[in-house]
Amino acid sequence: MCEPRHFEVRYAINPWMDTDTPVDTALAREQWARLVQVYRDHGHTVETVSPVEGLPDMVFAANAAVVVDGRVLGSSFHAPERRPESAAYELWFKNSGFDVHPPGSVCEGEGDLVPCGPYILAGTGFRTEWAAHREAQEFFGRPTISLQLVDPRFYHLDTALFFLGEEGDGEGQDDGDGNGTGRRAGNIAYYPPAFSPGSREVLRRLYPRAVIASEDDALAFGLNSVSDGRHVFIDPQAQGLVDQLADRGYVPVPVDLSEFRKAGGGIKCCTQEIRS
Ligand code: ARG
Repeated sequence: MCEPRHFEVRYAINPWMDTDTPVDTALAREQWARLVQVYRDHGHTVETVSPVEGLPDMVFAANAAVVVDGRVLGSSFHAPERRPESAAYELWFKNSGFDVHPPGSVCEGEGDLVPCGPYILAGTGFRTEWAAHREAQEFFGRPTISLQLVDPRFYHLDTALFFLGEEGDGEGQDDGDGNGTGRRAGNIAYYPPAFSPGSREVLRRLYPRAVIASEDDALAFGLNSVSDGRHVFIDPQAQGLVDQLADRGYVPVPVDLSEFRKAGGGIKCCTQEIRS
């Protein structure tokens, strides 16, 4: 994670950003510090990357890389304003003992490449390019499923979908063929209208028991959540989704990151998951 010391809205690269709407920077820092504390209180280790002046979106650590099996695919940002972030994060990974594979095309890390058990779900349409999906598949050796995003408010896959975990609510997506692959696929929550008709169909087939979010919950960044398989760290404004998750046996943990919404980000955007 990266402290929002230099966080502000200085440019607009998604429909949430408006340079005329001031960010309450003190509140943003408080909200971020609380997220860190909540993760630690739930037994998760949090490491931080030093923020760099002049890179206000660097707080959105999820976009800097994807880490699966301890292998790191770096980032290459669409917006020129964010491009220098890649090197700053790469340095952190290298200093922490990871090799970083630089992508050959636009690739915004976990913003668009979402590891889901045996698969990687991959978004395209606004930021990450199709070519990066192929590259991720080669690099990680995991089936990488391309999904077309169609609504600019949900410009990154992680604003429209998140992984609940491999076991999830105990009603995993077992396909009944007895080899267990279905169960291992786990479950997701998503907002179908953010996807093209074909991609919606792909998600419906892969996750017939997915949690379906309403537009209001998606707009409250309820899908920009982090799940450890039991606790779901989620924006409390996504009340409908919070209730659905509780009904399925998850433990929703509310964390309000409202100031970050002004930049088009939420809990997941602020969190890079290191899967060793
Ligand atoms: N302002 C940032 C951008 O538009 C927000 C990134 C949010 N991160 C995310 N994982 N969706 O790039």
